Parts: sequence; structure tokens; C-alpha cells
Amino acid sequence: MKKLAIFASGTGTNTAKIIEHFKENKTSIVALVVSNKSSAGVLKIAEVNHIPTLILQKEIFFQGNGYVNELKSAGIDIIVLAGFLWQLPVSLIRAFPKKIINIHPALLPKFGGKGMYGNHVHEAVLASGEKESGISIHFVDEQYDRGQIIMQAKCSINKNDDVHSLANKIHQLEHRHFSPTIEVFSTL
Ligand code: GRF
Repeated sequence: MKKLAIFASGTGTNTAKIIEHFKENKTSIVALVVSNKSSAGVLKIAEVNHIPTLILQKEIFFQGNGYVNELKSAGIDIIVLAGFLWQLPVSLIRAFPKKIINIHPALLPKFGGKGMYGNHVHEAVLASGEKESGISIHFVDEQYDRGQIIMQAKCSINKNDDVHSLANKIHQLEHRHFSPTIEVFSTL
């Protein structure tokens, strides 16, 4: 059974789905929820599920060893980024080679990189006149949002779509695909 650490900065709807998924599928367990924001909704989700949490201190995360020791001593095998807004320090990426995956709410390599998160992504996709959008689940390497893509899923964009309706379509894709993808990945 692989031990997962989920890193998240926000509401945590993806985290909630992943926790539920692995209650049924015992290939992995969510052993830790990590956040850079003590007020993040994701921490409440961890608490009600009796999952330990870790709040990151910016200086330690970026100048220290990226909390590698804490993660290794917790026996973490895989790091899952589910809406985590800080770029990972190289020390952390190198300590978990090909063991860190991220979900991005667009079809990379387009609409990725700095500043491309949350509704900013959907605004850019709609402004570009794209006829479809989707999600990308990818390995995390030292280039932001540039790691090898593991899977993508698409949704159509129609003329009535706005940022909210597109965000909703994307969230549905995330909630459907992230957990099974993590499961396949954790059995490798
Ligand atoms: C998701 O849209 C994900 O694609 C992005 O951050 C968001 C997290 O949403 N990386 P939630 O906090 O899981 O609801």
C-alpha cells in the first residue's frame, strides 16, 4: 500500500474525492494533507477524515530542504498536487523522482506556466476561442507545468460557456479522472 501526501492550497474538492476513492481502493492511503495556507478548506477535509496535516512555512519550504525529512519520516511514497499554488523547490522534486504528480485544469502545454491557475486558466482558454478544454495530469519536474503528461481528458466549449460553466466542466473531469490515474500510478 502506497502512502500519499496531498498538497493543496484551496477548497480541496479534489482532495476529498481522492480520500473517498482510497477508502474503497486499498492500493494507497492518503497519509498526509499538506497546505501553505492555514485557512485552506482542504485542512478541514483532512481533519474530518482524521488525516494528519502539515502547514508549510514559506522560509523553511524554499530555503530549507522543502520538508523532505518530514515527508520521508512519514513514509510518503507519492506526492499529489491538487491545487497547490507554490512551485516546488528542486530539493523536494529530486527527493521524489517521478513520484510527484499534478493536475492542471487545461490541455498542456497550452495555458500552463506562471499565473495559470484557477479561473485565470479558463479566462485565457475562453479568450483564445478554443473549441475544447480539459485537464492534464502530469509528472512534476523542475519546469513549472512542463513535466511528462500522464493523461488528458477533454470537454467541449460551446458559445454559451463562461468561466463558471467551463470551471464546472473541468472540475467534473478532475473528480472523475484524478483518483483512478493516481491508483494506476501508485501500482506501478
Ligand atoms: C483544480 O481546478 C486543479 O486543476 C487546480 O487547482 C484546483 C483545485 O481545486 N490545480 P480543489 O481545491 O481541489 O477544489
